[in-house]
Amino acid sequence: MLNEKIAAMLNDQINKELYSAYLYLDFADYYADEGLDGFANWYEVQAKEERDHAFMIRRYLLDNGHRVVLGAIAKPDKTFGSHLDPLEAGYAHEQYVTSLITDIYHEAFGQKDYRTMQFLDWFIKEQGEEETNADDMIKKFKLFGADAKGLYALNQELAARTYAPSTTGPAM
Ligand code: FEO
Repeated sequence: MLNEKIAAMLNDQINKELYSAYLYLDFADYYADEGLDGFANWYEVQAKEERDHAFMIRRYLLDNGHRVVLGAIAKPDKTFGSHLDPLEAGYAHEQYVTSLITDIYHEAFGQKDYRTMQFLDWFIKEQGEEETNADDMIKKFKLFGADAKGLYALNQELAARTYAPSTTGPAM
């Protein structure tokens, strides 16, 4: 069994990861509606990865003897005025998720819960990668997204992203 506070924080993180999936699905829907199917594809893949993160944490709680309690997932409430807006919202969201993971890690460290720290190590690394990816999307968009040809090429590039379940992360 884990410490109750840590278990509760992890239980809440399941909700945050599922919300992330929901949020990115909403981004995908926006881009699909705008005719940018590559951007939509990129965020569909991202949504699947976020769902996987939720499953990984769920599995960790179950494997440690905790009952998972699922809460309501909030409605994505962003409105977008430009193709850049979801990219910037995505970067800000990943920074927020990093802060949540860091908070759990901090609590685990304080309680000498080395098992949870080890479990979260993968998420710490993953958040670093996700922040970099989100920042790269913004940079590329600012460089190439302003003219039609550049936007077309970027959309083609993002269309190539494929989903594959993580082989390095914790078990689902
Ligand atoms: Fe699972 Fe992007 O946070």
